[in-house]
Amino acid sequence: MADAVEVVEVGPRDGLQNEKDTIPAARKVALVDALSEVEFRRIEAASFVSPRWVPQMADGAEVMAAIRRAPGTRYMTLTPNLRGLEAARAARADWAAVFTSATDGFARANLNCTIAESLDRFAPIMEAAREAGFPVRGYVSVVTDCPYEGAVAPAAVARVAAQLLALGCAEVALGETLGRGTPERVDAMLQAVLEEVPPERLAGHFHDTSGQALLNVEVALSRGLRVFDASVAGLGGCPYAPGAAGNLATEDLADRLAALGHATGLDREALSRAAALARTLRKDARVPHHPA
Ligand code: HMG
Ligand code: MG
Repeated sequence: MADAVEVVEVGPRDGLQNEKDTIPAARKVALVDALSEVEFRRIEAASFVSPRWVPQMADGAEVMAAIRRAPGTRYMTLTPNLRGLEAARAARADWAAVFTSATDGFARANLNCTIAESLDRFAPIMEAAREAGFPVRGYVSVVTDCPYEGAVAPAAVARVAAQLLALGCAEVALGETLGRGTPERVDAMLQAVLEEVPPERLAGHFHDTSGQALLNVEVALSRGLRVFDASVAGLGGCPYAPGAAGNLATEDLADRLAALGHATGLDREALSRAAALARTLRKDARVPHHPA
């Protein structure tokens, strides 16, 4: 049997944040509750970001207050500033997540500041999180391609990943935001990042716009990564990444990992039920490539 792999479910956040029509909080709660039955170790359940920027995520506190928490699952939320972290603590989130970018162009579009300014903003968040005993994930977006700056140099990704680790992030998630990275370019990016950050502190977050996310997971597996994000029913996109389609579908990832002999600890039938529910939330959610 190959090593165990953790699948982090990000659908309730990365999946739903891009939806134009308001999804009632109760339906988001139903999705998180269905996902809690799948026995993920972590679910990214909400964002505490500006409602001016991402109106769909404005009800994070309401969602977090109503979900049924599974004992083995930790609930993560996005926290772009100190105010977000305080909201996450009040909502009894288990993990916070800060997010920046490998390019200034994407950082400006997503956070209204440069990479350096975003890292300065994270310092007090990290301090408050440390005091509260709160682990923090740090995302780097656009690790191969940026909608504003084009191809991204692996060294730029490695630099930001190292800075997030130095700030105290427990884990650095590498966001292939546009889903255009080929396995060869993902491999070159990982090679550079791994000179700065050990594989056990990294997570792969691959969008599947051009159908290469599973190949990119396999490249990352061969480089030693053992944590991957996915979104139930392939929900997703990013409001500041025009053209980015869904994340890798959790069902596809679970099936591929099983075929490769990696245990994930997921309840596959509960995952199919959650995917059916997710498809009712979004008209164009994909049917997985490898239906069970
Ligand atoms: P700003 O406009 O520069 O900051 O935004 P601001 O301080 O002037 O705030 C603007 C308004 O938001 C103010 O309200 C604040 O009070 C309010 P107003 O006075 O105008 O009524 N505000 C907040 N409200 C609630 N909670 C908060 C909060 N902060 C400010 N925490 C800011 C800067 C960072 C706030 C903004 O740019 C922002 O919220 N950005 C988040 C964008 C986002 O969520 N993007 C999607 C997630 S990232 C992603 O999808 C990529 C990822 O999946 C990985 C990958 O695929 O690459 C993670
Ligand atoms: Mg994403």
